[in-house]
Amino acid sequence: MKMNIRSLEFKNNKLFLIDQRVLPQQYKKFICRNFKDVEFAITDMVVRGAPAIGVTAAYGIVLAAIEFIDLPPKDFFKKMHLACDLINKSRPTAVNLMWAITRMSKLLIESKTQKEILSDLRKEANIIADEDIQTNKKMGQLGNSLIPQKATILTHCNTGALATVKYGTALGVIRAAVASGKDIFVYADETRPRLQGSRLTAWELVQEGIPAKLIADSVAATLIRDGKIDLILVGADRIATNGDTANKIGTFMLSVMARVYRIPFYIVAPTTTIDFSRQTGTEIEIEERSPREVTHIMNVQIAPDNIDIYNPAFDVTPNENITAIITEKGIIEKPFKENILKLK
Ligand code: MRU
Repeated sequence: MKMNIRSLEFKNNKLFLIDQRVLPQQYKKFICRNFKDVEFAITDMVVRGAPAIGVTAAYGIVLAAIEFIDLPPKDFFKKMHLACDLINKSRPTAVNLMWAITRMSKLLIESKTQKEILSDLRKEANIIADEDIQTNKKMGQLGNSLIPQKATILTHCNTGALATVKYGTALGVIRAAVASGKDIFVYADETRPRLQGSRLTAWELVQEGIPAKLIADSVAATLIRDGKIDLILVGADRIATNGDTANKIGTFMLSVMARVYRIPFYIVAPTTTIDFSRQTGTEIEIEERSPREVTHIMNVQIAPDNIDIYNPAFDVTPNENITAIITEKGIIEKPFKENILKLK
């Protein structure tokens, strides 16, 4: 039976997250009881994927308000702004995080009672979560218009229900294409070092019964050269106004292959992933994560002691390698700068 995957749920003043660190060996929930738990969950990648991080952050602010509601107003606002700040810094690249915190912090209005503020924050977080689901469905529908009746699609990292509230961005387009009766085959790459492709995307594909093969990252180039891939669909963590796109490390490499072998390379992302304050990809901060992600796989050491490690979590795909950007507001084509600014 198909599983209805929902990455997060706010119930009884707690945030329940699918613990993405332990999938697929274990399916268990991580419970956030306060905003510090949320900060940890984002930093440690209990939850990951730009849209899911944004929604989680919004509920983190709700948890902070619940915790601080009885404080005198001055202390309440001070603690709330501190909580916003801490969560805001929990990961640097996915702009949906900062976007959600900005949206929530606008509700910290000093002329309102703390009870009213808490109620407003709750409503807003629920709206952000619902909007995410609607946005994904819309991108699925729009993106499906670009998918041929029969297609073999390569995807990178995890952009599915786990990376959003449910459904997904790039994997959402694949879901929509399959649901519309198209003959779809997916290649999912492992996505070292955190293996979001093998641990999470492959798990979602199996749950959905979508025909797929998992490949090592190094196989993609051969498949593309041999004409085995019709198109590539990936997500995004932050898009500059010229279309340069930060996404999981390895995305850039795939975009180069797509360009050389002339296959479409699509970004699928909500407009909340566009950062209108960044004009080019060089202005996007790229997160560097722990060396342990490279030296170990699931706690097994696979590299010698004392080797130096370089572990950027994201790279930037230059706009010239991107065929189009699929958003909920429409499919953005070149010239990206002009067309992206129209969305502002
Ligand atoms: O480090 P992660 O797992 O949070 O990175 C996730 C990605 O790079 C995704 O492709 C991106 O967030 C889009 S998810 C819909």
